[in-house]
Amino acid sequence: MLFPFLRPALPEPESWTPYLTTSYDQRYFSNFGPLATDLADRMSKAYLTEDYRGLLCASATAGLVAVLQALDVYGKKVALPDFTFAATVQAVFAAGATPVICDIDPDRWELCPNSLESAFAEHPDIACVIHVRPFGLRRDISAQKAVCRAHGVPLIVDAAAGLGAPNSGHPFGSEDGEIEVFSLHATKVFAIGEGGLIAAPRAMIGAIKAAMNFGFQADRTYGEGQNAKVDEFRAAIGLAMLERMTAITETRSRHAAFYDTVFAGLDGFQTAQDPGPTPWSNYPVVFDEEVTKETLGAFADNGIEIKKYYWPGVLKGYTGPRPVLSVPTPVSFSLQDRCACFPVYSDFTAETGLMIQERIERTLDLLARTRP
Ligand SMILES: Cc1ncc(COP(=O)(O)O)c(C=O)c1O
Repeated sequence: MLFPFLRPALPEPESWTPYLTTSYDQRYFSNFGPLATDLADRMSKAYLTEDYRGLLCASATAGLVAVLQALDVYGKKVALPDFTFAATVQAVFAAGATPVICDIDPDRWELCPNSLESAFAEHPDIACVIHVRPFGLRRDISAQKAVCRAHGVPLIVDAAAGLGAPNSGHPFGSEDGEIEVFSLHATKVFAIGEGGLIAAPRAMIGAIKAAMNFGFQADRTYGEGQNAKVDEFRAAIGLAMLERMTAITETRSRHAAFYDTVFAGLDGFQTAQDPGPTPWSNYPVVFDEEVTKETLGAFADNGIEIKKYYWPGVLKGYTGPRPVLSVPTPVSFSLQDRCACFPVYSDFTAETGLMIQERIERTLDLLARTRP
């Protein structure tokens, strides 16, 4: 495939193995070791407001579980959108809570405040809300925060794909105290292999750190918890990655701007509204019609791999034994069938853009001609 959906780009070993000298000197390879602590400090400064602190974790999924455990949701209900990746609901299950699935907004593709209100009307005992930033899109979420505030429940933001440019002037964290969780998976923009970052108000850090470390308390008794720590090797890759993030995100923004121009000239497509300072792990597009196997195949035949992401959503995707509560989700059901993501590259060039544009136009032309 000339243009695969993903071209993960992690720092080469020469750039991160030297950091490990510290860990080897101290014989300290995990359990909040020197590199993990250093990286968490640097990432806190680069990405978070002063009142927040970053904690590195084994994955965004493990981070979400730890945060839910720290918020004590066992046996309670947690609201989240239908249009998300499996991990969001699986974290709720892992923390021993029951999900209440809500609909999304048709224009912004994220948790709809009205649907969330309906969920609270039906389930006044919802104890926590997870907002998902779809595709890492960095929008104002004050409407969702207002609903959480009105009902007195904490807000977790699953921003798995949301970590991009450091020192951008748009730090994460606010006076509302939401806890934000990012993935550092190999397929994300800030990629270290497997990993995550939890951004939380300083007052919450102790409880989350304990949940990440088997739930141990100072007296060695333990409650809800797991092992969600990250080792020194992953932290070394992260230190090298942080150095590159400015350059990488600039290039990816140019790739996304290129798609903006291409799709602005085509009928029948909706692209992301108000993307804000989004790192563009991929470029989501909502088609007027269902994205079928034929659509995906036609793009693949022309050398571009596009992917249906967050498809199927939670209600159609989860087939396990756990109870799942929900309010109606017609928008998510319609949108998840029509949404596909295009690849975004950290080594994008104008020449690549011309080739991709030509292939997109050729594919759409072919699809239009073969449509019954
Ligand atoms: C919305 C969302 N949440 C959570 C995750 C899980 O992240 P991780 O692979 O780091 O556990 C993903 C992964 O893509 C995701 O898209």
